[in-house]
This record gives sequence, structure tokens and C-alpha cells, in this order.
Amino acid sequence: MRVPLASSGLRDCDIAAVTRVLQSGNLTMGAEVKNFESKMSAYLGSKHFVMVNSGSSANLLMIEALLRPTIDRPRLNPGDSILVPAIAWPTTIWPLIQLGLNPLFVDVDPETFALDLDVAQNLIDSSRIPVKGIFPIHPLGYAIPPSELKKFIERNDLILINDVCESLGSWSEGKHGGTTGIAGSFSFYFSHHITTMEGGGIATDDDRFADDLRSMRSHGWSRDRSDSEKWTAQVTGNDSKFLFVSTGYNVRPMEIQAAIGSLQIDEIDNFVSKRRNIALRVNNALNGSGLRVIGSDTFKSEATRKSHSWMLIPIQVVGSNTELRKERILEELEKLEIETRPVLTGNFLAQPAIQRITRHSVDPDFFGVASEITRTTFLVGAHHDLTEEQIEFLCNSLLKVSKMSV
Ligand SMILES: Cc1ncc(COP(=O)(O)O)c(C=O)c1O
Repeated sequence: MRVPLASSGLRDCDIAAVTRVLQSGNLTMGAEVKNFESKMSAYLGSKHFVMVNSGSSANLLMIEALLRPTIDRPRLNPGDSILVPAIAWPTTIWPLIQLGLNPLFVDVDPETFALDLDVAQNLIDSSRIPVKGIFPIHPLGYAIPPSELKKFIERNDLILINDVCESLGSWSEGKHGGTTGIAGSFSFYFSHHITTMEGGGIATDDDRFADDLRSMRSHGWSRDRSDSEKWTAQVTGNDSKFLFVSTGYNVRPMEIQAAIGSLQIDEIDNFVSKRRNIALRVNNALNGSGLRVIGSDTFKSEATRKSHSWMLIPIQVVGSNTELRKERILEELEKLEIETRPVLTGNFLAQPAIQRITRHSVDPDFFGVASEITRTTFLVGAHHDLTEEQIEFLCNSLLKVSKMSV
């Protein structure tokens, strides 16, 4: 029985919404996007939410807006160093490089896969590289506690932006994951906690930052800004609809994406609770076996249970000969049609592109935890659309393969 990592996540009501919007003739960003944005900010508890066409675009816009704000002084300048995790997604890192910043890789925590703040502190204390910011990923449904991030940035005078693309529905200390700091990016790529097919967005409490994101997602024009009238008043002879006040891209979302998103976000608690239940069942099935669910500590109390929104389920091969056993286990799971994948991209430093591009030569083996996770750990699906039969088959198959030796 096939147990996929991803599923379309689309329901009949989502498809009906697409038809309704297409028939209305409203295609690009408009009322549906506004509606989705206000639902997202209400859910996240953020003052603004700016929807874009992907989580990758959300990351790109956040960096652009820090480097080239329309009114305030830049919070970052080309050449500045930014702390990032060694287990990362490419489009967390590429916007930094593409826009002239210097990603400083930090090893991750073995139990959460998040950037290890103690290792980051040692790096700051021991290196002469002045660090300006931190761009942590909240990985696979885990929210880094905001108090830890706040303490770290205040101690080191850093700016904080968050990649929350994998962790919609995660909560810590009463706040949604990644809503501390200047901003956080989200992805609604199909298979994530909610889908808009492709899609993403940025949550922020900063009014000017939000205005700049609104200009930058749409060529740099002024018309979607809260202060657009002020800009219009300053110029004569220009059509106010064609007034450009910042650099920009075209990363606008479509109305059909937002219409789906608005229906999906209403169901987020239900989707996350189904995912949590799948992870709990896999964890219970594997208890005491040669496979271990990483992150299962959150099941220990009601409060921590809510913190984790389980994007996928990380499973570590424990005991002896882990690397060889993992290879055999993955082969067997593939035969059973249970899809697996590495943790994000595995140790990102070992990827050919980063090896070629980074200014400092980086030895992937220097990042011992990221390398160990890559060697021992894999992910299986936790999608809320998995059926009872698929979940049962997944649990039984994992238990069976956990007994495999080399
Ligand atoms: C951590 C992280 N950042 C960014 C992205 C990019 O999101 P998107 O696929 O919507 O561009 C992803 C994709 O899943 C991701 O896992």
C-alpha cells in the first residue's frame, strides 16, 4: 500500500472555490488575497500578513526589505554575516547569497534540528566575524521557544527573521512559532499544513516593513501600501497607480490560491491534530525498537504536545551499524511503497552548490550533528489526508523493518 510523503490536500470545497473565483474573472491579487491575509494574521497573532506566491519568495522579500527599505535606514548591508542552520532549505540560504550577504552556518540541535543557539554563541564569542543577524528555520513543525531567541538576539544585538515554512500550527510559550523578531516566512506548498497549491507569505508586526513587502512583491509600486496617498501627494504628473517607490519583483499570489487558503486555514487545528495523532501512533508502534521518532518528547505533556505541528515524522536508526541498516531499511520501505526522504536536504554544507558558491571553504564534517542526522535519520509522511489503513500499514511496516540487521 502506497504511503506518500505528500498529498494534494485539496477538498471538493477548495476546488469549488477555484471555479467560483475563475468564473468571477478576478485572477490576480485582490479581495480574496486580502481576506486570506486577514485570516492569517488573526490566526498567527501578527499585525500584518503579506501573501506571496511561495515560501521561497517570502524569504527573498524579507531579505530585500531589510537591505533596501523605502523610508528607514537599511537594517542589513551587503557583506553582513547572518547565522543560519547547517540543516537548511536551499531557498533559506540562496536569497542571502543572491543579495550579497554572508551566511554563517551553525550546527543544529540533535533533538529538534533547529540552529543550536549555544553553538552559535560559541561561534560569536570565538570568531572575529561581526554577526548582524540570525535566520533560524523552525523545522518540521517545531517552534523554537521565543524566550530563547529573544535572549540570544538581545545579548548579541542581532536582528531576527524566521523561516517558518515548515511549521504552521506550531506554538511555544503562547506564541505561534516564528513570530518573534522582525518577521517570519510561511509556505503553503501542497503537502504542508495547509495548501494554496503553491504559495507563501510573511507575518510581521512592523508597519513599515509590511508596506515595503507590499511594494516589493509587486514591482515596487506604491498602490498597496498604507501610506500610498502620502507618496502620491509628493509627486506631480505621475499616475498614482504607476508610482514606484522601491525595488521589487513580481511574486504576487493569485486569487484562486487565496480562496483555497481561506478555506484551509479554518481547518488548521483539525489538520494539525490529525498529523499529531499519526506521529503519536508511529511513536507508540516503534517504542523500544531499533527505530526512534525524534521529537516524541513533546508527547509527554499536554502543553508541549501543542507545540509541535509534525510536518513529517523524523525517524532515527539507533543501535549499531546505523548507516548500513538505514540503507537496507530505506530499500525495504521503497519496496513496500512507503516514501521516505532526508531531513530537509540533509547537511546542507555537503550539497554541491553550497560547496561551490560559499566564500569561506566549509568542511561539511565540521558540522558533526548535521552529518550524524544525515547518516542516521529519514522522514516518512504525516499528512492529514492519510487513511486509517495507510496509518496502520505505516506503523506495522516500520516496526517490521526496525528489526532488520545488516
Ligand atoms: C524551511 C523551508 N524554507 C523555505 C521553503 C520554501 O517554500 P516553497 O516551497 O513554498 O517555496 C521550504 C519548502 O518546503 C522549506 O522547507
